[in-house]
Amino acid sequence: MKKIGVLTSGGDSQGMNAAIYAVVRYGIQHGFEVYGIRNGYKGLMTDDVVKLTAKSVEGIAHRGGTMLGTARCLEMKTVEGQQKAVATLTKHGIEGLVVIGGDGSFAGAKVLSTQYNIKTMAIPGTIDNDLAYTDYTLGFDTAVSIVANAVKDLRDTMSCNDRTCVVEVMGNRCGDIAVYAGLVSGAEAVLPPEVKYDPDTLVARLKANAKKGKLDNIILVSEGLRSRGEIVKNKEADFVMEDILARMPKINIRSMVLGHLQRSGDATAQDRMLGIKMGAHAVKCLANGLTNRAIGIHNDAIFDEDIVEALAKTRGLNTEMYELANNLSKY
Ligand code: F6P
Repeated sequence: MKKIGVLTSGGDSQGMNAAIYAVVRYGIQHGFEVYGIRNGYKGLMTDDVVKLTAKSVEGIAHRGGTMLGTARCLEMKTVEGQQKAVATLTKHGIEGLVVIGGDGSFAGAKVLSTQYNIKTMAIPGTIDNDLAYTDYTLGFDTAVSIVANAVKDLRDTMSCNDRTCVVEVMGNRCGDIAVYAGLVSGAEAVLPPEVKYDPDTLVARLKANAKKGKLDNIILVSEGLRSRGEIVKNKEADFVMEDILARMPKINIRSMVLGHLQRSGDATAQDRMLGIKMGAHAVKCLANGLTNRAIGIHNDAIFDEDIVEALAKTRGLNTEMYELANNLSKY
């Protein structure tokens, strides 16, 4: 194999650029020509392919977003779209492909390898941390840090006004961002989607705090809190605020959505390191002739496993973290 490609797909996340950086530089050092596919699988539909050099990736490893652009590509789910993708790869002589993205992007990589004989590697890039086979995904650490910083900053205005604030965070159907950020920032409550939401329990906590004179509370709510089917984004914080107001009409309360700020700004050192290690590992796998591998990290060690097996894994909430967050925030 002489030519390999790299693409980023789905929601961008910090650390994707670090992974691209490693794939390109390490790939070239392993004797590959490396091609970037722009805007995820969409670039394979439109033949948007550029040759990358060591210079192309200079100074990108720390940056958020992705230098290759990204998109969610529904066409890749159809046989026609998959055939278009393969035709583009074949036209450029690209035999190996590194896909960086979430579970939808992994599904595309799986199809390309199992049905079309393209050698694929999948790197978990999503702030949601919702891929069960790996301890961490690229961007999660940065998103947690951003949320934790936001909670710290919000304290200034909330505490001097004796005010409670309900803050909606991302994560899709996974509560890890809310739980980890809540734990490290001392949020007074975290509401992940994996735990049945009970407004009365939440309000009991706020009333107990008020009795002790604590009137400023920060409540982190996952965007998928009450999702049944499609997630209604940017609404959960308001819903929770209304539930509280219905039970504590006199409470001084506001709500806000942190939104895409969680996917913006530089990657933490941890996410850069993870991206670099995973990118380098993907290149090694391709150089060893492997295919259909998901790259992950477990107990600080990078590993690869079959994509189909990786996608079949499920996990619930990290209850240890959740309970710790819940207990430590008791006033
Ligand atoms: O999957 C990453 C993610 O940021 C989710 O947390 C969020 O629900 C979604 O993407 C937002 O998607 P978009 O950027 O298309 O609004």
